[in-house]
Amino acid sequence: MKTESKQIQTDFLVIGSGIAGLTYALKVADHGKVIMLTKDNEDESNTKYAQGGIAAVIHEPDSYEKHIKDTLECGDGLCDEAVVRMVITESTERVIELAEWGTKFDKMPDGEYDLAKEGGHSEKRILHYKDKTGFEIERALLEQARSNSNIIIHDHFFVVDIITQHHLGVEVNKNTPDVKCFGVYVLNLKTGKVETILAKTTLMATGGAGNVYENTTNPVIATGDGIAMVYRAKGRVENMEFIQFHPTSLYNAAAKRPSFLISEAVRGLGGLLRTKNGKEFMQKYDKQGSLAPRDIVARAIDNELKTLGHEHVWLDCTHLDPDEIVKHFPNIYAKCKSIGIDMAKDFIPVVPAAHYICGGIKVDMWGRSSIENLYAAGECSSTGLHGANRLASNSLLEAVVYAHRAALDASKAIGNISIEGNIPDWNDSGTSYPEEMVLITQNLREVQQIMSSYVGIVRSDLRLKRALDRLNIIYQENEDLYDRTTVSPQLCELRNLINIGYIIIRSAMKRKESRGLHYSVDYKPGEGSSRKF
Ligand code: FAD
Ligand code: SIN
Repeated sequence: MKTESKQIQTDFLVIGSGIAGLTYALKVADHGKVIMLTKDNEDESNTKYAQGGIAAVIHEPDSYEKHIKDTLECGDGLCDEAVVRMVITESTERVIELAEWGTKFDKMPDGEYDLAKEGGHSEKRILHYKDKTGFEIERALLEQARSNSNIIIHDHFFVVDIITQHHLGVEVNKNTPDVKCFGVYVLNLKTGKVETILAKTTLMATGGAGNVYENTTNPVIATGDGIAMVYRAKGRVENMEFIQFHPTSLYNAAAKRPSFLISEAVRGLGGLLRTKNGKEFMQKYDKQGSLAPRDIVARAIDNELKTLGHEHVWLDCTHLDPDEIVKHFPNIYAKCKSIGIDMAKDFIPVVPAAHYICGGIKVDMWGRSSIENLYAAGECSSTGLHGANRLASNSLLEAVVYAHRAALDASKAIGNISIEGNIPDWNDSGTSYPEEMVLITQNLREVQQIMSSYVGIVRSDLRLKRALDRLNIIYQENEDLYDRTTVSPQLCELRNLINIGYIIIRSAMKRKESRGLHYSVDYKPGEGSSRKF
């Protein structure tokens, strides 16, 4: 049966309502009609959960050169220096704009921004709103977007795939030079119908993919949808082996999703990592101790846990001023208190959890992907800023800088693009509703287990091969299910996560060295890497 669907047209289409999508929408709205699609509630996003803040150079003793150096060192030899320089020199302007849009970054009594420090930063340069910076940014941007009559936000609209020549019957493969994006097929979760939205230009701002692992700080919406869609459409995706595990998520024996994050800013204020026996251990691994770059800290914790057979390490804040703890981290303090831990008196049990994907849709300096009329910004993109390991709080920064640049470029280009009129409606002939949900839920659990056991903080050739073999079986099963089943978010998310797992494994297999977040017991640190283990 062919679904009868309406076709909607717009100038600018935005997929995702996190910091990247909203920033872009606010900027292009002066140049045409904007439709924003988002698969859950308007505010549900990784952005909403960001704690520590946004990195930017504000005043001396900090400088652009220092922030550039920290970013390059953290990226372990793989950053694109031109991109790093561009993003960081544009940082001040972009955070001022966020403040002008209504974000209330914390200030000191003298009116200066209250800057915090995080791992790998040589200076205090993190602007924040207590320990709920993302929540505050999302609130301010959504308020702006809702009051802009050129922006229409459709929540509970799940984008299934981008539309290219492939949907006009033209063969598209990796070598097709001019793949074009004409819009998307989107499942309207309120009606259950797949609609066609055609756009002159589209921004992918679908965020991360933490749910490909068992333990993640990411909310359940982070299933790598945009990256998987672009991969399926034969767009370029890169650097996917670099998965950042945040060193300190609250130990979560019940494996609830998501794992609660204990911000790096807690270590920035002086919190110290200790083994379960109470011993400090980070100095053994790096001279920056508990505030070393994230890949080093996560790997060190993983090593201590495996050596000692413990299930978590401690984060010790008991030597810090209790008033400062409550003032800076009210959200974290309240969460710990709710499970019987008083941060000022008790150690906090923490473990690493999948947190951020450094790779993604390859874009140029203007956010242009390899597919014509398709931009990408935020966590789903790969810009060259993070290299092999992202510096803390550089993600929100990257998202606003690239959303801004993509908006400038798209606004200029829009006059020369017309809507493709011959797109067929979504065809669901021969499909039916799934008989058993367990076919999806069990495969999802297996993907997450495979990725966590074999493609986590420490990898090996054997583990990667085993992961690929297992994943291939699940891939075949799910493609078969997809072909005969009416689309649902659960089915599409599983399909996307299988694609994401596959790309991570294949990228990891190709890297014949250890570097940054990709550590293999079979390879030494590559040339130019500063990592010692
Ligand atoms: P998101 O904010 O994740 O938004 C993605 C949007 O896309 C969502 O609206 C989602 O619903 C939508 N979407 C996804 N798929 C589809 C689909 N198929 N159809 C329709 N819509 C879809 N970074 C920092 O720089 N500083 C921090 O302090 C910090 N703290 C963090 C703390 C936590 C707990 C987490 C999880 C991340 C943190 N990060 C931090 C990382 C940072 O928050 C994210 O990288 C950033 O917010 C990503 O923004 P985004 O706009 O790219 O994506
Ligand atoms: C944190 O607050 O520790 C998260 C910061 C980040 O992921 O950049």
